[in-house]
Amino acid sequence: MGTVTIMDHPLIQHKISLIRNKKTGTRDFRAIISEIAMLECYESTRDLVLEDVDIETPICKTTGKRLAGKKLAIIPILRAGLGMVEGLEKLIPSAKVGHIGMYRDPATLKPVEYYCKLPADIDKRDVFVVDPMCATGGSAIDAINALKEHGCNNIRFLCIIAAPEGLKALQEAHPDVDIIVGALDEKLNDHGYIVPGLGDAGDRIFGTK
Ligand code: PRP
Ligand code: URA
Repeated sequence: MGTVTIMDHPLIQHKISLIRNKKTGTRDFRAIISEIAMLECYESTRDLVLEDVDIETPICKTTGKRLAGKKLAIIPILRAGLGMVEGLEKLIPSAKVGHIGMYRDPATLKPVEYYCKLPADIDKRDVFVVDPMCATGGSAIDAINALKEHGCNNIRFLCIIAAPEGLKALQEAHPDVDIIVGALDEKLNDHGYIVPGLGDAGDRIFGTK
C-alpha cells in the first residue's frame, strides 16, 4: 500500500504561502516552486537503499554509506511539472528525465495527453512523477497509467497543492503509489480550480497570463 505524506515542515508551509499570494511574480514563483520540490524530494527519498563503501579520510580508513545504485527517473507532467524538475535534479543529479504532456479540457476537466517521451529503460527505474497541482487527480492518474503501461512498478507522485477530491481519486486509482503533498487544500471550485490554491500553476510559472 502506498503512503500519503502531507508535508508539515515550517519551511514548506512558509514557501507555499508565498506562492499562493497573487502578488508573487514569475521569477520568485518559479524559484520557490523549485525549492519546495527539492524539499519534497528530500522527504520522498528517505527509503532509498544504501550500501557500505570503503573510504580513506585524511585521518584513517573507514566504512561509509552510498546509494546502492538504484536507477531513478523524474517525470514532469507538462507544463507545470517542469517547474519542479530542477529542484529534484539538485538532489538526484544522475536521474534521467522523461516528459508527459497533458492539458485539462476546460469544459470536461478531463486530461488530454499530447506528448510522451520516456527514458528507454523506464521500466527498470524508480519513478518520481511531479506536478505542482492535483485538482481532480485526472492528470496524475492518467500519467501514472501511461507509466504503468510502459512497465513501471515503483512510482511516487510529488505535488505541491492537492484538493481532497483529487487525492482520494489518485489513491483509489493507484493504491500502490507513494504520494507526497505540500499542502492539502479545502476543495475544488466550479471551474475545477483548487480553493484557496494558487491559481493556474502553468501560467504562473511561465508568465503566460
Ligand atoms: C494543471 C496542473 C495539472 C492539472 C491538475 O495543468 O499542472 O497537470 O492541471 O488538474 P487535474 O488534477 O484536475 O488533472 P493544466 O491542464 O492547466 O496544463 P498546464 O500545466 O500546461 O498549464
Ligand atoms: N490546475 C492548476 O494549475 N490550478 C488549479 O487550481 C487546478 C488545476
